[in-house]
Amino acid sequence: MKLKRLKDQLGESLSWSDYLSLPFTQTVITETLRMGNIIIGVMRKAMKDIEIKGHLIPKGWCFFAYFRSVHLDESNYDWPYQFNPWRWQDNKDISSCNFTPFGGGQRLCPGLDLARLEASIFLHHFVTQFRWVAEEDTVVNFPTKNTNQAPAQTLKFHLYPSSQGIQNGWEKPLTS
Ligand code: HEM
Repeated sequence: MKLKRLKDQLGESLSWSDYLSLPFTQTVITETLRMGNIIIGVMRKAMKDIEIKGHLIPKGWCFFAYFRSVHLDESNYDWPYQFNPWRWQDNKDISSCNFTPFGGGQRLCPGLDLARLEASIFLHHFVTQFRWVAEEDTVVNFPTKNTNQAPAQTLKFHLYPSSQGIQNGWEKPLTS
């Protein structure tokens, strides 16, 4: 908010140093990636027999490494179903094996910094120019439509512009 006011007063747009000055936005993005990432896991083919925790994956088999089960495992995260960006404060390590929204190793997503930058710019404009109320306080995971049979998962919310200044109250909803 402070940054938005300052930029409005100066008539400037966001710069790279502004982006770097928003560490809490990064914790929100990190927590969103942990709980509701668009990519839930990756497919791999075993090039040789592999044993993991007593389970054999024979050579040639395909398997799915399911990130979400790791991201929502309470042995990795306290209260894993609670959206808590503060858990990432104090520069907590985001390059651990327990947090892999962008994959890892040789196939690590090359777009990860761009993705974080885009999400950050979106969030900055969204929270400083709009207000919203969700009809239900719930987590919506992608894909929002799993199969032709399953009903689409949607999150209904009311969106309000805060066009008369970010400190002002609610106006008429733009959408519902
Ligand atoms: C939130 C946004 C994004 C998420 C969660 C994401 C996630 C991932 C993941 C998990 C992989 C690894 C796939 C695997 O190991 O099989 C991957 C690969 C890749 N991503 Fe992203 N990605 C995102 C945004 C982007 C963006 C913005 C770009 C480019 C502009 C990008 C380009 C790529 C490419 C080219 C690969 C293939 C890398 C390779 O196979 O060597 N991604 N991404």
